[in-house]
Amino acid sequence: MATNLKLEPFDVVLFGATGDLAKRKLVRALFRRAAAGQIPPGSKIIGLARSDLSREQYLEEARVSLEKYLNPGELTPDNWDIFSKLVTYLRVDATVASDFEALQRELQGRDEIVRVIFLSMATSLFTAVCSNLSAAKLVTPKSRVVLEKPLGEDRASAEKINSLVGSIFHEKQIYRIDHYLGKEAVQNLIALRFGNALFEPLWRRGRISHVQITVAEQVGAEGRGDFYDQTGALRDMVQSHLLQLLCIMAMEPPASSAADAVRDEKLKVLHALRPIVDGDVLTKTVRGQYRAGAVAGKPVIGYLEEPGVPPDSRTETFVAIKAQIETWRWAGVPFYLRTGKRLQEQMAEIVITFDRVPLFIFGGGRQPSPNQLIIRLQPDEGVTLSILAKQPGEVMRLKPVNLGLHFADTFKEKSLDAYERLITDVAKGNLTLFMRRDELDAAWAWIDPIREGWLQADEAPKPYTAGSWGPAASSALIERDEFSWHGEV
Ligand code: BG6
Repeated sequence: MATNLKLEPFDVVLFGATGDLAKRKLVRALFRRAAAGQIPPGSKIIGLARSDLSREQYLEEARVSLEKYLNPGELTPDNWDIFSKLVTYLRVDATVASDFEALQRELQGRDEIVRVIFLSMATSLFTAVCSNLSAAKLVTPKSRVVLEKPLGEDRASAEKINSLVGSIFHEKQIYRIDHYLGKEAVQNLIALRFGNALFEPLWRRGRISHVQITVAEQVGAEGRGDFYDQTGALRDMVQSHLLQLLCIMAMEPPASSAADAVRDEKLKVLHALRPIVDGDVLTKTVRGQYRAGAVAGKPVIGYLEEPGVPPDSRTETFVAIKAQIETWRWAGVPFYLRTGKRLQEQMAEIVITFDRVPLFIFGGGRQPSPNQLIIRLQPDEGVTLSILAKQPGEVMRLKPVNLGLHFADTFKEKSLDAYERLITDVAKGNLTLFMRRDELDAAWAWIDPIREGWLQADEAPKPYTAGSWGPAASSALIERDEFSWHGEV
């Protein structure tokens, strides 16, 4: 069994309790942690949303989501009993101050208990909720607020939200969540880099030729057409998940695992990213939009036909970027980032490609395939090191083989889902895996000029067929440097 630290009772105040994220991930994470005894009796899970539901009706909705998203056998009567006893539901319009009175009553006399206020809603509502919580005197010294991404739509709007939230909560009470940082494989990348002496001497220019970070999804707009069309892949995925992965991959060794030691190093990476501005936007980035095609053998509609998407939308569902980090460690090593919806596979990975040997003594010119270290985040988490080995037989013929660590086979303990880990981290007060305000600002500062460049260029995103690996221009971006995307066929 995975070792679970014992936690004192704490309250979860979940805004957006009937929304998509709550249904797909948050309710499941709370259920599992409650079943594991980490949300002990005496805690409360208070769901809040605008829908006029009774507690029973809300629980029924929660049960339907759990049936859909839990693994078979997890929803046992005992576990349901433990979970459902913790849950209450309140109808609240986050913008209406008087609606918070019911929450006041629910939390009466509980100021000494850790209060996790989770805002799983449009960021445009964050300031209203925080102001109303504050006016209702619901922000206690033991309160922590969790802000879902994307926080704002650009640097200026993020700064506005951060200022307002920062005037109500101390920075140490603010948990800007990026669930990619809670994924087991990301934790393992940190373990790999800083728990082993082996990799550090190789982790630099002159050893690594380039790095690829891919988050590929088979899903499309998924009934979130309205939200997605306002957001697009750059803000939905690159600004948060891909940049965070890049930071963990590229940061200098922190002096400790303390939250600020790690966050200071990540911030330096963001500051060292070479800005992509003006003409570079067209040569170093590719944006695409999916057309009808087939994913996993099933026909799917194009982005412009998705419900909630205007037929002339220019929102990108795919982005590829060649990024560069201007530090002694990384100067000259390109970092290629790629993410998209309706791609051929559902997978996320970081691929580190090492330089070839300076002289290949086995004939045939240069080393046929360079060594690669592949950190697989999903679907099957693991680490693979691809090396050349001699093929059995008389002739000295070298062939790439994989040395692999497949977490599910190696470790019998089930790993925590990202949200399970992050919610308990909030309850414990551990900020390491959450973004600090200056990190978020630096991420937006790098993203904004790319969007501005796209707007100025006034070009429609490049179409790609659903089920492919994105537009041809994405392959061209990396092939210009004589590399190719890992796994692309
Ligand atoms: C979310 C994005 O943050 O991450 C979604 O808003 C995306 O568009 C999701 O589908 C991907 O997360 P995961 O964990 O399923 O890879």
